[in-house]
Amino acid sequence: MAKTSAKKSSSSSRRETRVAIAIMAAGKGTRLKSKHPKVLHEVGGKPILSHVIATAAKVVPPKDIFVIIGHEADRVRAAVASSGVQFIVQAEQRGTGHALMAAQEALAPYEQVIVLSGDAPLITVETIQKLSAFHAAQKAAMTLLSADLDDPSGYGRVIRKSTKNADVHAIVEEKAASAPQKKIREINSGFYAFSVPALYKHIGSLGTDNAHREYYLTDMAAVLGRSKQKVVVMKTSHPAEVLGSNKRSEIVDLDARLRLAKCLELMEEGVTIFYPQTCVIDSDVEIGTDTVIEPFVQLRGKTKIGSDCRIRSYSVINNTEIGDGVVVLPGCVMDDSRIARNATVGPYSRLRPGSDIGEGAHLGNFVETKKIKLGKGSKANHLTYLGDTEIGEGVNVGAGTITCNYDGNAKHKTIIEDGVFIGSDSTLVAPVRIGRGA
Ligand code: UD1
Ligand code: CA
Repeated sequence: MAKTSAKKSSSSSRRETRVAIAIMAAGKGTRLKSKHPKVLHEVGGKPILSHVIATAAKVVPPKDIFVIIGHEADRVRAAVASSGVQFIVQAEQRGTGHALMAAQEALAPYEQVIVLSGDAPLITVETIQKLSAFHAAQKAAMTLLSADLDDPSGYGRVIRKSTKNADVHAIVEEKAASAPQKKIREINSGFYAFSVPALYKHIGSLGTDNAHREYYLTDMAAVLGRSKQKVVVMKTSHPAEVLGSNKRSEIVDLDARLRLAKCLELMEEGVTIFYPQTCVIDSDVEIGTDTVIEPFVQLRGKTKIGSDCRIRSYSVINNTEIGDGVVVLPGCVMDDSRIARNATVGPYSRLRPGSDIGEGAHLGNFVETKKIKLGKGSKANHLTYLGDTEIGEGVNVGAGTITCNYDGNAKHKTIIEDGVFIGSDSTLVAPVRIGRGA
């Protein structure tokens, strides 16, 4: 079997280029003034690095993705290990060029490496593929991705050889740029494609004669140029996708862009979201058609909402599954719970983990629940605590009812059977069972 396929590929005229992706994620992120590594700061509800890995994994399989880690390496590795990518440790962080030096052995079997920045999460699959194909077609040693930014400050600038073609003379970092160079709006995105043999033949020529005394990967443009190697640039027509996150304000801006994009995607699918700028919806959230989301709603984690629901303002809903036709009145907080179709919850209900609200049931104001099952059509409308409780169908739980589920040592269960009527201000000391129709 293996023999046949080897024969096939060697006889094929268009041999596949072996492409790896390296993601630089070893830096500390000094400019954030944070105790947490930069690439683990969150945008759109998950670490910045997770977005970059997810995009890379749509271009090559995880075994060909090499994440270069260093600062707080164990934490970064643990946060993204489930993606199945490879890791390279850059023990000392002496610059982006030094990061690629650390990857030499791992990348040696490949022909082309696409280098991504672990702190720039908006890069798209299409652009990575275009960059890779452009690099191959140009037969270049290095291809950098550039973008025209209205405000290029803080980024390296692309110094082209001429306006007529894609040839690059050098990349100049902001700190080393002259006044006329600072006026250049074409910036180096920090994404590159390299020919692996050319990169490692010349990487030893990088020096540290710069503001940070670091090995800059950007200097490879000039280094390769001096050795008569081809260095070219491909400009993206979507400048926003290259934005990085060196500063807190940039992280917040990236988060806002991702959130708005998620809202627009949901609206395309038939969901109404009023004042989307005020809503925080994580990327994995699903919502059915004709559901209306009011201003200032947060939908987090793996929350799934059915069709024809209305989620009113100021509710924070995390990892919760909501059926069709449910109304969530203002100010509810929910975690790891379930609400069946046509139920009404709120205002100000708090559903703690394991709350299972039945079809057409009502949970009213200032009702707290934890690990409960509220049966079909049952109601608990006012000022109530229900914990470790099973409630049947058609039950009415009066105002101020409390299940005393905890005796100081252990939790106990309360069972309320179908059709029970519980009057106001009742205290149910568990374990207790209230029989059908009582
Ligand atoms: C870099 C580029 C700059 C470009 C910008 C785009 C250099 C010298 N400059 O600047 O031209 O405009 O990106 O966003 O490359 N990292 C390591 N190991 C290190 C140092 C950094 O893995 O030793 C990682 C960081 O974690 C980060 C990425 O490399 O994810 C880029 O480093 P960063 O310090 O953010 O570079 P910039 O100053 O933004
Ligand atoms: Ca950066």
